[in-house]
Amino acid sequence: MVTPNPRVATDALADDVHGGADSAELEELGLRPDQVLDFSANLSPFGPSPMVHLAVRRAALDRYPDRTSRELRRALATRHGVREEQVLVGNGSSELIWLAAVAYLAAGDGALILGPAFSGYEQAARLMGATVWTCKATSEDGFCPPLAAFAKELSEREPRVAFLASPNNPTGQTVESDRVFALAAQSPRTLFVFDEAYADSEDPDRRDASDPPQNVLRLRSLTKAHGLAGVRLGYGVGNEDVIAAIKATQPPWSVNTLAQEAGLAALADGPYVKDCLVRWAAAKTELVAWLRQAGFAPVPSTVPFFLMPVADAAHARSALLRRGILVRDCTSFSLPHFVRISSRGKDENARLVDALLATRAEVVSCNG
Ligand SMILES: Cc1ncc(COP(=O)(O)O)c(C=O)c1O
Repeated sequence: MVTPNPRVATDALADDVHGGADSAELEELGLRPDQVLDFSANLSPFGPSPMVHLAVRRAALDRYPDRTSRELRRALATRHGVREEQVLVGNGSSELIWLAAVAYLAAGDGALILGPAFSGYEQAARLMGATVWTCKATSEDGFCPPLAAFAKELSEREPRVAFLASPNNPTGQTVESDRVFALAAQSPRTLFVFDEAYADSEDPDRRDASDPPQNVLRLRSLTKAHGLAGVRLGYGVGNEDVIAAIKATQPPWSVNTLAQEAGLAALADGPYVKDCLVRWAAAKTELVAWLRQAGFAPVPSTVPFFLMPVADAAHARSALLRRGILVRDCTSFSLPHFVRISSRGKDENARLVDALLATRAEVVSCNG
């Protein structure tokens, strides 16, 4: 019998739960994927720019991709006003979260997470055998990020890596980058994985007031606001040595040609994304107003997704899914009384509200 490497905590992935439809579950319910409206994944409902479709059609399928994603890194370096060597492209930002853990964590090290948070941080840290501490926002505080408690844990525990996201999943709350940079400056021996996967879903033009310290690795995703979830594309920006350390752990060709071409075309069509964001934000504002009017209590957020209290999240999800509406059960975030809803366009949102009204008595607690 061949046994896996005992130093790799393979059980870290046991409870892997994400948004998006589960093909086996849909089959069991007799639903085809095109019969389900997905409000569970935080992705632009408008899909990628038409320029992306063109670029992907023209991409060379019969050659190896550029292993260094050079052209794309150049475009990203220009976008962020940094050198090419400060940018690493990955197979989704998820890959870079994993690789940051591989490069910076070993068994017995500590990792601190500002929670509740995307499961990838804890999984990656646990996979490397690290001890994980989480500092969690609570519903009682409106899910306001507990930065004072986080700062205290940083100074007391001195973790090797700290993970925090802004805007955060699932809460949709923002932490100003300058506050993160100040925390990082006070903990120079900790690598700050500052996950900004949803920054473009909030404001693609936002600029920092200060420069990040050397120990901050910023992660961005092109799968969300740019609509490239299927091709998988994300990137990291940081100090050259940090980027080089993480790059050393990356498998060759992990970012394929379609992803590189799609990314270049998406970045070149800034006006398309901005137009989508305006429509997306308007649809979300209207959806939240409809929900409040109907007596639900969506939690305020800075992005097109938000939490909403229900009596039992697993039950609410099942009841809605039977009607072809998919929301995210937040039990895996230790929030069994919340679902996460990502706005779609106006007409689709109206179908969600209809389904919620039809299932209200059965599953939803109305606190509003
Ligand atoms: C906060 C956060 N970071 C990173 C990711 C990973 O995104 P991707 O790998 O698609 O770039 C997700 C996905 O849901 C997320 O919610």
